[in-house]
Amino acid sequence: MENLSVAIVGGTGNLGGALALRLGAPGVKIIIGSRDAEKAKKAVETLKSNLRAGEIVGMTNQEAVKGADFVVIAVPYEGHAQMVSALKGQLAGKIVIDTVVPLNKVKPFVPAAGSALQEAQQILGDEAPVIGALHNISAVDLGDVESPLGDVLVCGDNAEAKQKVMEIIERIGATAFDGGPASNAYVIEGLTGVLIHLNRKYKSKHGSIKITGLGGGAKH
Ligand SMILES: NC(=O)c1ccc[n+]([C@@H]2O[C@H](COP(=O)([O-])OP(=O)(O)OC[C@H]3O[C@@H](n4cnc5c(N)ncnc54)[C@H](OP(=O)(O)O)[C@@H]3O)[C@@H](O)[C@H]2O)c1
Repeated sequence: MENLSVAIVGGTGNLGGALALRLGAPGVKIIIGSRDAEKAKKAVETLKSNLRAGEIVGMTNQEAVKGADFVVIAVPYEGHAQMVSALKGQLAGKIVIDTVVPLNKVKPFVPAAGSALQEAQQILGDEAPVIGALHNISAVDLGDVESPLGDVLVCGDNAEAKQKVMEIIERIGATAFDGGPASNAYVIEGLTGVLIHLNRKYKSKHGSIKITGLGGGAKH
């Protein structure tokens, strides 16, 4: 997977911007999506100065997904279903990476579909596989490109797509683990609620998870 084109829907936000910085590498094209093309372009100007390599452009979410192989959904849960529905019809042949945690303020909850991932997959049907990733890693750690990243649980029902997403996770410096089928997503998404609690309790901004006893993840 040498050349890579990744659209980040909601890329003007905390997670999306930080992920863009991590993705910056030769051969990588990052497309920052926003509901507002001007806001996307502004975000790109800010991100550009810290991008290590690669290309970065900004446009509306609808335009952003057109040229991408991978589409990262990085919007708050409140806008999740509506955003995925709005992109439906433009995602064939792409892999959707869903980072969204259903939260009511800071409290996690299980949506009717079972998880945000399953909600997206229900909306998209067979159009594109949806893979969950990056829920338990903070934007703070992602954006600090010089610091090592921890472990990322990747889940979903399409094994080939999941493997490709795990490779991207490894490329950004984290250790990817196959977290199982889409039916596991509610646990992984919900774990972020526990991390938010831990951050508050222990006065941190980047509590994360570490998997032990398994060896090294996707590369092993
Ligand atoms: N932040 C983290 O550390 C972290 C870690 C793990 C997972 N996540 C998950 O990643 C997702 C994004 O988190 P974030 O902290 O980056 O969020 P954010 O900064 O609050 O929002 C990201 C972007 O989403 C767009 N947006 C906001 N409300 C929207 C709506 N109702 N409909 C459509 N788009 C909307 C905005 O972009 P435009 O105004 O430009 O359209 C915004 O810049 C969330 O679902 C969160 O649970 C976050």
